[in-house]
Amino acid sequence: MRDSHSDVEDAAYGDAPEQFEGEFPIRIKGLTNSFGDFNVHEDLDLDVKRGEILGVVGGSGTGKSVLMRSIIGLQIPQDGMIEVFGRNITEAEPDEVIGVRNRWGVLFQGGALFSTLSVGENVQVPLKQFYPELSQELLDEIARYKVVLTGLPEEAASKFPSELSGGMKKRAGLARALALDPELLFLDEPTAGLDPIGGAKFDELTRELTDTLGLTVFLITHDLDTLYAICDRVAVLADKKVIAVGTIPELLENDHPWIQEYFNGPRARAATATHERGKALDKLGSEKA
Ligand SMILES: Nc1ncnc2c1ncn2[C@@H]1O[C@H](COP(=O)(O)OP(=O)(O)OP(=O)(O)O)[C@@H](O)[C@H]1O
Ligand SMILES: [Mg+2]
Repeated sequence: MRDSHSDVEDAAYGDAPEQFEGEFPIRIKGLTNSFGDFNVHEDLDLDVKRGEILGVVGGSGTGKSVLMRSIIGLQIPQDGMIEVFGRNITEAEPDEVIGVRNRWGVLFQGGALFSTLSVGENVQVPLKQFYPELSQELLDEIARYKVVLTGLPEEAASKFPSELSGGMKKRAGLARALALDPELLFLDEPTAGLDPIGGAKFDELTRELTDTLGLTVFLITHDLDTLYAICDRVAVLADKKVIAVGTIPELLENDHPWIQEYFNGPRARAATATHERGKALDKLGSEKA
Protein backbone atom coordinates (compact mmCIF):
# COMPACT_ATOMS: atom_id res chain seq x y z
CA MET A 1 0.00 0.00 0.00
CA ARG A 2 1.19 3.50 -0.70
CA ASP A 3 1.69 5.70 2.35
CA SER A 4 0.05 8.71 0.80
CA HIS A 5 -3.31 7.14 0.07
CA SER A 6 -6.47 8.95 0.98
CA ASP A 7 -9.95 7.49 0.62
CA VAL A 8 -10.55 9.86 -2.27
CA GLU A 9 -7.52 8.52 -4.09
CA ASP A 10 -8.41 4.92 -3.36
CA ALA A 11 -11.77 5.49 -4.94
CA ALA A 12 -10.19 7.31 -7.85
CA TYR A 13 -7.29 5.13 -8.78
CA GLY A 14 -8.35 1.64 -7.71
CA ASP A 15 -5.36 -0.66 -7.45
CA ALA A 16 -2.22 1.47 -7.28
CA PRO A 17 1.08 -0.01 -8.54
CA GLU A 18 3.28 -1.57 -5.90
CA GLN A 19 5.50 1.05 -4.30
CA PHE A 20 9.16 0.78 -5.29
CA GLU A 21 11.08 -1.05 -2.56
CA GLY A 22 14.60 -0.97 -4.06
CA GLU A 23 17.41 1.21 -2.81
CA PHE A 24 17.71 3.49 -5.86
CA PRO A 25 14.56 4.70 -7.64
CA ILE A 26 16.85 6.43 -10.16
CA ARG A 27 20.07 4.92 -11.53
CA ILE A 28 22.03 6.58 -14.32
CA LYS A 29 25.09 5.03 -15.95
CA GLY A 30 27.30 6.38 -18.72
CA LEU A 31 24.81 9.04 -19.82
CA THR A 32 25.66 11.20 -22.83
CA ASN A 33 23.36 14.00 -23.98
CA SER A 34 24.20 16.12 -27.03
CA PHE A 35 22.78 18.97 -29.06
CA GLY A 36 24.45 18.75 -32.47
CA ASP A 37 28.19 18.55 -31.86
CA PHE A 38 27.87 19.89 -28.35
CA ASN A 39 27.90 17.33 -25.54
CA VAL A 40 26.11 18.56 -22.43
CA HIS A 41 26.82 15.32 -20.54
CA GLU A 42 29.50 12.72 -21.17
CA ASP A 43 29.58 9.40 -19.37
CA LEU A 44 27.58 10.75 -16.42
CA ASP A 45 26.70 8.45 -13.50
CA LEU A 46 24.26 9.16 -10.67
CA ASP A 47 22.20 7.10 -8.21
CA VAL A 48 19.35 8.64 -6.23
CA LYS A 49 18.49 6.90 -2.95
CA ARG A 50 14.92 6.09 -1.99
CA GLY A 51 13.50 8.58 0.51
CA GLU A 52 16.18 11.21 0.12
CA ILE A 53 16.06 14.80 -1.04
CA LEU A 54 18.95 14.99 -3.46
CA GLY A 55 20.05 18.54 -4.23
CA VAL A 56 21.49 18.99 -7.73
CA VAL A 57 23.80 21.97 -8.20
CA GLY A 58 26.10 23.25 -10.89
CA GLY A 59 26.86 26.43 -12.81
CA SER A 60 24.26 27.82 -15.19
CA GLY A 61 24.24 25.77 -18.41
CA THR A 62 25.95 22.71 -16.92
CA GLY A 63 22.93 20.62 -17.85
CA LYS A 64 20.85 20.27 -14.68
CA SER A 65 17.54 20.76 -16.45
CA VAL A 66 18.63 18.58 -19.38
CA LEU A 67 19.52 15.84 -16.89
CA MET A 68 16.07 16.06 -15.32
CA ARG A 69 14.42 16.05 -18.76
CA SER A 70 16.29 12.94 -19.76
CA ILE A 71 15.22 11.10 -16.60
CA ILE A 72 11.57 11.88 -17.33
CA GLY A 73 11.91 10.92 -20.99
CA LEU A 74 11.64 14.38 -22.56
CA GLN A 75 15.21 14.30 -23.82
CA ILE A 76 16.47 11.18 -25.60
CA PRO A 77 20.10 10.52 -24.64
CA GLN A 78 22.78 9.66 -27.19
CA ASP A 79 24.16 6.96 -24.96
CA GLY A 80 23.90 5.42 -21.50
CA MET A 81 21.28 3.86 -19.28
CA ILE A 82 18.61 5.46 -17.12
CA GLU A 83 16.70 3.19 -14.77
CA VAL A 84 13.63 4.52 -12.99
CA PHE A 85 11.97 2.22 -10.42
CA GLY A 86 14.19 -0.56 -11.74
CA ARG A 87 13.03 -0.15 -15.34
CA ASN A 88 15.40 0.92 -18.08
CA ILE A 89 13.39 3.80 -19.50
CA THR A 90 15.77 4.46 -22.40
CA GLU A 91 14.84 1.07 -23.85
CA ALA A 92 11.32 0.67 -22.52
CA GLU A 93 8.29 0.31 -24.77
CA PRO A 94 5.99 3.39 -24.77
CA ASP A 95 3.39 1.49 -22.71
CA GLU A 96 5.94 0.67 -20.05
CA VAL A 97 7.07 4.31 -19.86
CA ILE A 98 3.47 5.39 -19.29
CA GLY A 99 3.33 2.95 -16.37
CA VAL A 100 6.28 4.77 -14.81
CA ARG A 101 5.31 8.32 -15.79
CA ASN A 102 2.29 8.38 -13.52
CA ARG A 103 4.57 7.60 -10.56
CA TRP A 104 6.46 10.88 -10.70
CA GLY A 105 5.53 14.54 -10.47
CA VAL A 106 7.41 17.48 -11.92
CA LEU A 107 7.66 21.17 -11.08
CA PHE A 108 9.42 22.69 -14.09
CA GLN A 109 11.82 25.64 -13.92
CA GLY A 110 9.62 28.73 -14.03
CA GLY A 111 6.49 26.92 -12.79
CA ALA A 112 4.64 26.88 -16.09
CA LEU A 113 1.01 26.72 -14.96
CA PHE A 114 -1.55 26.95 -17.75
CA SER A 115 -2.59 30.61 -17.52
CA THR A 116 -6.10 30.06 -18.95
CA LEU A 117 -6.94 27.38 -16.39
CA SER A 118 -7.74 27.88 -12.72
CA VAL A 119 -5.40 26.36 -10.14
CA GLY A 120 -7.81 23.49 -9.57
CA GLU A 121 -8.08 22.85 -13.32
CA ASN A 122 -4.27 22.91 -13.55
CA VAL A 123 -4.08 20.18 -10.91
CA GLN A 124 -6.67 18.18 -12.83
CA VAL A 125 -4.65 18.13 -16.08
CA PRO A 126 -2.48 15.11 -15.18
CA LEU A 127 -5.44 13.41 -13.47
CA LYS A 128 -7.53 13.65 -16.64
CA GLN A 129 -4.61 12.47 -18.73
CA PHE A 130 -4.05 9.29 -16.75
CA TYR A 131 -7.54 8.67 -15.36
CA PRO A 132 -9.98 9.90 -18.02
CA GLU A 133 -12.83 7.96 -16.41
CA LEU A 134 -12.88 10.08 -13.22
CA SER A 135 -16.04 12.08 -12.61
CA GLN A 136 -15.84 15.87 -12.44
CA GLU A 137 -16.95 15.74 -8.83
CA LEU A 138 -14.04 13.49 -7.88
CA LEU A 139 -11.58 15.55 -9.95
CA ASP A 140 -12.69 18.68 -8.08
CA GLU A 141 -12.35 16.94 -4.73
CA ILE A 142 -8.84 15.58 -5.43
CA ALA A 143 -7.71 18.98 -6.77
CA ARG A 144 -9.01 20.74 -3.65
CA TYR A 145 -7.21 18.22 -1.45
CA LYS A 146 -3.89 18.74 -3.29
CA VAL A 147 -4.25 22.52 -3.12
CA VAL A 148 -4.77 22.41 0.65
CA LEU A 149 -1.92 19.89 1.03
CA THR A 150 0.51 22.50 -0.32
CA GLY A 151 -0.60 25.07 2.23
CA LEU A 152 -2.84 27.14 -0.04
CA PRO A 153 -6.33 28.13 1.09
CA GLU A 154 -9.08 26.03 -0.46
CA GLU A 155 -10.39 29.09 -2.38
CA ALA A 156 -7.11 29.20 -4.32
CA ALA A 157 -8.41 26.28 -6.39
CA SER A 158 -10.77 28.59 -8.25
CA LYS A 159 -8.21 31.37 -8.81
CA PHE A 160 -6.24 31.88 -12.02
CA PRO A 161 -2.43 31.92 -11.96
CA SER A 162 -2.38 35.66 -12.70
CA GLU A 163 -4.26 36.26 -9.42
CA LEU A 164 -1.57 34.55 -7.32
CA SER A 165 1.70 35.76 -5.80
CA GLY A 166 4.97 34.12 -6.87
CA GLY A 167 5.06 31.93 -3.77
CA MET A 168 1.44 30.84 -4.26
CA LYS A 169 2.16 29.97 -7.90
CA LYS A 170 5.00 27.70 -6.76
CA ARG A 171 2.67 25.97 -4.33
CA ALA A 172 0.06 25.58 -7.06
CA GLY A 173 2.74 24.06 -9.30
CA LEU A 174 3.64 21.70 -6.48
CA ALA A 175 -0.03 20.75 -6.04
CA ARG A 176 -0.12 19.84 -9.73
CA ALA A 177 3.13 17.86 -9.39
CA LEU A 178 1.53 15.92 -6.53
CA ALA A 179 -1.72 15.31 -8.42
CA LEU A 180 -0.98 11.67 -9.25
CA ASP A 181 0.22 10.82 -5.75
CA PRO A 182 3.81 10.31 -6.96
CA GLU A 183 6.68 8.44 -5.32
CA LEU A 184 9.25 10.59 -7.09
CA LEU A 185 9.19 14.36 -7.23
CA PHE A 186 11.30 16.52 -9.55
CA LEU A 187 11.70 20.17 -8.59
CA ASP A 188 13.66 22.48 -10.90
CA GLU A 189 14.66 25.68 -9.08
CA PRO A 190 11.53 25.76 -6.87
CA THR A 191 12.63 28.73 -4.75
CA ALA A 192 14.04 30.90 -7.55
CA GLY A 193 12.42 34.32 -7.45
CA LEU A 194 11.02 33.92 -3.92
CA ASP A 195 12.10 36.19 -1.09
CA PRO A 196 14.16 34.43 1.62
CA ILE A 197 11.17 33.93 3.92
CA GLY A 198 9.00 32.57 1.10
CA GLY A 199 11.89 30.35 0.03
CA ALA A 200 12.39 29.00 3.56
CA LYS A 201 8.68 28.25 3.88
CA PHE A 202 8.68 26.41 0.58
CA ASP A 203 11.72 24.41 1.74
CA GLU A 204 9.92 23.45 4.94
CA LEU A 205 6.89 22.34 2.95
CA THR A 206 9.10 20.22 0.67
CA ARG A 207 10.74 18.52 3.65
CA GLU A 208 7.42 17.93 5.39
CA LEU A 209 5.74 16.46 2.31
CA THR A 210 8.78 14.30 1.55
CA ASP A 211 8.64 12.79 5.02
CA THR A 212 4.90 12.38 5.33
CA LEU A 213 4.27 11.13 1.79
CA GLY A 214 7.42 9.00 1.63
CA LEU A 215 8.73 10.78 -1.48
CA THR A 216 12.13 10.72 -3.13
CA VAL A 217 13.04 14.18 -4.40
CA PHE A 218 15.37 15.30 -7.21
CA LEU A 219 15.79 18.98 -6.42
CA ILE A 220 17.71 21.29 -8.76
CA THR A 221 18.69 24.50 -7.03
CA HIS A 222 21.10 27.40 -6.83
CA ASP A 223 19.84 28.19 -3.37
CA LEU A 224 22.47 27.45 -0.72
CA ASP A 225 19.91 27.93 2.04
CA THR A 226 17.82 25.13 0.51
CA LEU A 227 20.83 22.83 0.32
CA TYR A 228 21.70 23.38 3.95
CA ALA A 229 18.15 23.28 5.23
CA ILE A 230 16.60 20.25 3.57
CA CYS A 231 18.91 18.24 1.28
CA ASP A 232 20.18 14.87 2.51
CA ARG A 233 22.86 14.77 -0.17
CA VAL A 234 24.02 17.05 -2.93
CA ALA A 235 25.17 16.11 -6.45
CA VAL A 236 27.50 18.53 -8.22
CA LEU A 237 27.42 18.87 -12.01
CA ALA A 238 30.59 20.14 -13.68
CA ASP A 239 32.83 19.09 -16.56
CA LYS A 240 29.82 17.31 -18.19
CA LYS A 241 29.53 14.84 -15.29
CA VAL A 242 28.40 14.48 -11.71
CA ILE A 243 31.83 15.18 -10.23
CA ALA A 244 30.81 14.53 -6.62
CA VAL A 245 27.81 13.47 -4.57
CA GLY A 246 27.56 13.46 -0.80
CA THR A 247 26.54 15.37 2.27
CA ILE A 248 27.71 18.98 2.49
CA PRO A 249 30.48 18.13 5.03
CA GLU A 250 31.66 15.43 2.61
CA LEU A 251 31.67 17.87 -0.29
CA LEU A 252 33.64 20.40 1.73
CA GLU A 253 36.47 17.86 1.76
CA ASN A 254 36.54 17.83 -2.04
CA ASP A 255 39.14 20.15 -3.54
CA HIS A 256 37.55 20.61 -6.98
CA PRO A 257 37.78 24.40 -7.58
CA TRP A 258 34.07 24.85 -8.38
CA ILE A 259 33.04 22.97 -5.22
CA GLN A 260 35.44 24.98 -3.07
CA GLU A 261 34.28 28.27 -4.54
CA TYR A 262 30.61 27.33 -4.22
CA PHE A 263 30.63 25.80 -0.73
CA ASN A 264 33.39 27.91 0.79
CA GLY A 265 32.68 31.26 -0.86
CA PRO A 266 31.17 34.25 0.97
CA ARG A 267 27.55 33.30 0.17
CA ALA A 268 28.13 29.77 1.46
CA ARG A 269 29.53 31.15 4.69
CA ALA A 270 26.41 33.29 5.10
CA ALA A 271 24.17 30.25 4.49
CA THR A 272 26.15 28.18 6.99
CA ALA A 273 25.84 30.94 9.58
CA THR A 274 22.06 31.10 9.04
CA HIS A 275 21.82 27.32 9.35
CA GLU A 276 23.92 27.22 12.52
CA ARG A 277 21.90 30.07 14.02
CA GLY A 278 18.66 28.19 13.21
CA LYS A 279 19.95 25.04 14.87
CA ALA A 280 21.06 26.98 17.96
CA LEU A 281 17.63 28.65 18.24
CA ASP A 282 15.88 25.27 17.84
CA LYS A 283 18.04 23.85 20.62
CA LEU A 284 17.27 26.81 22.85
CA GLY A 285 13.55 26.38 22.10
CA SER A 286 13.56 22.66 22.96
CA GLU A 287 15.53 23.29 26.18
CA LYS A 288 13.01 25.93 27.26
CA ALA A 289 10.03 23.68 26.42
N1 LIG B 1 16.55 22.06 -26.59
C1 LIG B 1 17.83 22.45 -26.60
N2 LIG B 1 18.48 22.65 -27.78
C2 LIG B 1 19.79 23.02 -27.81
N3 LIG B 1 20.54 23.22 -26.72
C3 LIG B 1 19.96 23.05 -25.52
C4 LIG B 1 18.57 22.65 -25.41
N4 LIG B 1 18.26 22.56 -24.09
C5 LIG B 1 19.39 22.88 -23.41
N5 LIG B 1 20.40 23.17 -24.27
C6 LIG B 1 21.76 23.53 -23.89
O1 LIG B 1 22.24 22.55 -22.97
C7 LIG B 1 23.01 23.18 -21.96
C8 LIG B 1 22.47 22.82 -20.60
O2 LIG B 1 21.20 23.41 -20.43
P1 LIG B 1 20.35 23.30 -19.09
O3 LIG B 1 19.07 24.02 -19.36
O4 LIG B 1 20.27 21.90 -18.70
O5 LIG B 1 21.26 24.10 -18.08
P2 LIG B 1 21.02 24.30 -16.50
O6 LIG B 1 22.17 23.67 -15.81
O7 LIG B 1 19.67 23.85 -16.15
O8 LIG B 1 21.17 25.88 -16.40
P3 LIG B 1 20.35 26.92 -15.43
O9 LIG B 1 21.01 26.83 -14.09
O10 LIG B 1 20.61 28.25 -16.08
O11 LIG B 1 18.91 26.55 -15.42
C9 LIG B 1 23.00 24.67 -22.25
O12 LIG B 1 24.18 25.00 -22.94
C10 LIG B 1 21.81 24.85 -23.14
O13 LIG B 1 22.00 25.91 -24.02
MG1 LIG C 1 17.94 24.79 -15.57
